[in-house]
Amino acid sequence: MGSVGGEHSFRVIIVGAGLGGCATALAMHHAGFEVVVFEKVREFLRLGDSLGLGENALKLLDRWSPYLRARLVEIGNKSELMQIRRWHDGKVLAQQPLMDMAGFIGHRGDYHRAFLDAVAEKGIPVHMGSEVVEYDDSSPSVTLKNGERHFANIIIAVDGIKSRARELVLGFDDKPKSSGYACFRAFFKGSHLRGNPLAAEFVEQECVNIWIGKDKHLVQNTLRNGEEFNWIITHKDTEDIKESWFQPGNMDEVRRLVEDCDPRIAAVVKKTEACLDWKICYRDPIPTWVSRNHTVALVGDCCHPHLPTSAQGASQATESAAVLAQCLLLAGRENVPLATRVYEKLRFPRVRRAQTNGEDLRDRWHSALDKVGEGEEIDPDSILIKNNVLYDYDAEADTRKRWPELSALVSEELKTGKITPLC
Ligand SMILES: Cc1cc2nc3c(=O)[nH]c(=O)nc-3n(C[C@H](O)[C@H](O)[C@H](O)COP(=O)(O)OP(=O)(O)OC[C@H]3O[C@@H](n4cnc5c(N)ncnc54)[C@H](O)[C@@H]3O)c2cc1C
Ligand SMILES: *[C@@H]1O[C@H](CO)[C@@H](O)[C@H](O)[C@H]1NC(C)=O
Ligand SMILES: *[C@@H]1O[C@H](CO)[C@@H](O)[C@H](O)[C@H]1NC(C)=O
Repeated sequence: MGSVGGEHSFRVIIVGAGLGGCATALAMHHAGFEVVVFEKVREFLRLGDSLGLGENALKLLDRWSPYLRARLVEIGNKSELMQIRRWHDGKVLAQQPLMDMAGFIGHRGDYHRAFLDAVAEKGIPVHMGSEVVEYDDSSPSVTLKNGERHFANIIIAVDGIKSRARELVLGFDDKPKSSGYACFRAFFKGSHLRGNPLAAEFVEQECVNIWIGKDKHLVQNTLRNGEEFNWIITHKDTEDIKESWFQPGNMDEVRRLVEDCDPRIAAVVKKTEACLDWKICYRDPIPTWVSRNHTVALVGDCCHPHLPTSAQGASQATESAAVLAQCLLLAGRENVPLATRVYEKLRFPRVRRAQTNGEDLRDRWHSALDKVGEGEEIDPDSILIKNNVLYDYDAEADTRKRWPELSALVSEELKTGKITPLC
């Protein structure tokens, strides 16, 4: 290491081995590039809880690793239908295929393990305990905490919501802002609920239920065939933000929130011992995903975080990986700037759609009951999840189709040195 690599190899450094980093590694390897991954933590734990993967991502992963797709589907293809219920009594207001929402819901840690195994199976090196502390975009390279410097043709940062690379790319520190809401979420063994007459129906078989109320909603689902149980309450919260995946939540506040909720689910929630407080740190869209000299590109949560109601965080990161790999292939090894600038232009509107889909759904759920009286029927269509419109998309094919138009535009911008900001 330490050089740009052999004459014919095109070397890609990926920073971060989360789901997005793994997807990027697979996409780049599939494109025939030499890939190396640096990951800060020494060891991955089974972190997080439920995560959705949509068909828009699975079709790409299938091309890069059919074995991976099969494993992901096995983890996540459990319940067919989901119920959307009224907050105070659980009356079913609408029912629809789960595929319309989250796609396949599984445990983030189980999915991550499958991704990491697929990366290992391809022989892609992942260096654990290797924190990147510095980026250089003029002679593309990263410096690790231990002082080692590594060079490549392109650096791809997939370093998550608290990204250091984002600062470099933007030239300023992008502060998180509250989305106006926060989530409490808990995850525990569900088997003991089987004996609980109130809650038994929610663990008898794999299921997903959503209770919608004024300015709040609760998502309940099982994982691993009912062995594990997950609830997530989204509620109004404008408090100052601590951006963390690990902040403990205040169970007294949670109990107050579910005071007027369907007793069947309220009973389970109230008994929960501990939960996490996820201030939903959302960020305004950023004007660029690529560094000034066009050699460091951002992928995943670091440039396009999603609300939980989008259920597309990992899937959009996978699409971004696919598009960037295709752009690098189309541009050729001497033309990284062209590739990265087409990449961001192509991705930005698509990602905005997935992001705003989540905002729209949350807003529809939180106001649905305002419009109807007690005895009146709610129009089921007004609360349905509409993510399925995102699944029918092939990120690789779209990149090839739009390349001529976008590469001409970007070539012009690179010539004049005036890159139009994304927003
Ligand atoms: C702990 C955790 C729990 C989560 N739980 C859920 C969940 O329950 N449900 C859900 O839908 N989504 C969850 N998410 C978000 C979800 O994983 C992401 O939306 C999706 O996987 C895409 O993320 P990413 O790969 O871009 O970033 P991340 O998943 O955040 O991965 C970024 C990776 O980069 C590494 N990294 C950061 N800085 C450096 C550096 N300087 N040098 C080297 N490596 C670095 C991090 O250690 C991490 O492994 C969670 C994320 C985290 C981190
Ligand atoms: C998921 O499971 C359903 C029902 O068991 C099945 O019909 C469907 O084909 C499965 N989907 C995939 C992608 O395997
Ligand atoms: C930008 O990168 C190119 C290689 O792609 C290099 O030749 C050039 O010196 C760099 N410019 C600056 C200002 O860093």
